[in-house]
Amino acid sequence: MLRRMLLAASGSDRTRQLITTAPVTRGLVARYVAGETAAEAVAVTQGLLASGLLVSLDHLGEDTRDPDQAAAVTAEYTGLLGQLAAAGLARGGRAEVSVKPTAVGLGLAEHGEKTATENIARICAAAREAGTTVTVDMEEHTRVDATLRIVDQLRPDHPDLGCVLQAQLRRSVADCAGLATAGSRVRLCKGAYDPPDSVAFPTRHEVDRSYARALRVLMNGPGYPMLATHDRRLIQIAAAQAALAARPPESFEFQMLYGVRPAEQRRLASTGAQVRVYLPYGSDWYRYLVRRLAERPANVSFFLRSLASAR
Ligand code: FDA
Repeated sequence: MLRRMLLAASGSDRTRQLITTAPVTRGLVARYVAGETAAEAVAVTQGLLASGLLVSLDHLGEDTRDPDQAAAVTAEYTGLLGQLAAAGLARGGRAEVSVKPTAVGLGLAEHGEKTATENIARICAAAREAGTTVTVDMEEHTRVDATLRIVDQLRPDHPDLGCVLQAQLRRSVADCAGLATAGSRVRLCKGAYDPPDSVAFPTRHEVDRSYARALRVLMNGPGYPMLATHDRRLIQIAAAQAALAARPPESFEFQMLYGVRPAEQRRLASTGAQVRVYLPYGSDWYRYLVRRLAERPANVSFFLRSLASAR
């Protein structure tokens, strides 16, 4: 309930003003975001790789309405990939990038899907040059079909292009089956948005069951599953499924967000599992932060208490 309220309220200018100017926000941003610039993100990446983790960098920002802005975001990604390569961090996919289709044009009033496809193709070309990969993030449920079409269109040229499925959506187990093809990189997450019950499971329990079903489909297929969750139980199920399917550790990976359960990230990596940290950077952190707050009731109440005491 708190989660739904926060996600719904986050669109209002008043809430945005309240959250972005609250003193407590600075610490929360620092917890979840690597910094404002590519150079800061590259430095954090270096540290994470040195500690045995893998990284996927995300330049914060979404829902671009201006073609020039979409082009600028694309240039940011190609520049970032150049910096990762120059620092020797990209080779073998150790540091890759995650891209939101609406950040590179999907939501443009005209030719949005075409623009996003072309921009993601540019980022894929830069990633190939750098020796690494790209994963296309999944956004609101209304964007799923277009996002899957973009991935489908680009995969013949870029077979290692990853995509994301959200277990909260009723369609996702079937989508997993369609995407569980040889070499297919699929990130499975619960879903950070607030879709209507007509397309999504309304309870956490049902979302978890859907995740477990989708995870079985991916683990038993010939693709490359990327299990994005901090949920202890689902991590255990994933490890058990990998053992049952006799999957070697290099044939799948766990993924977690920067700032969330870092000790578990290190623990899993120390068992020989591949663990990738999703590392956002940039100044447009507002909506990313709201989704992180909404994921954990303790975060919301801590935040509300801090706001009240700051008054
Ligand atoms: P759940 O929310 O049940 O959390 C399990 C436990 O993890 C909690 O009890 C708590 O201990 C801890 N935890 C989780 N979130 C926390 C937080 N914000 N702060 C502190 N502790 C927290 N979503 C999407 O819609 N599209 C996408 O493309 C992606 N991409 C993506 C990449 C990666 C690498 C990850 C890890 C996640 C995403 N997500 C995403 C977000 C995802 O859908 C989901 O919202 C979060 O991962 C939280 O779900 P969990 O599976 O962790 O379970």
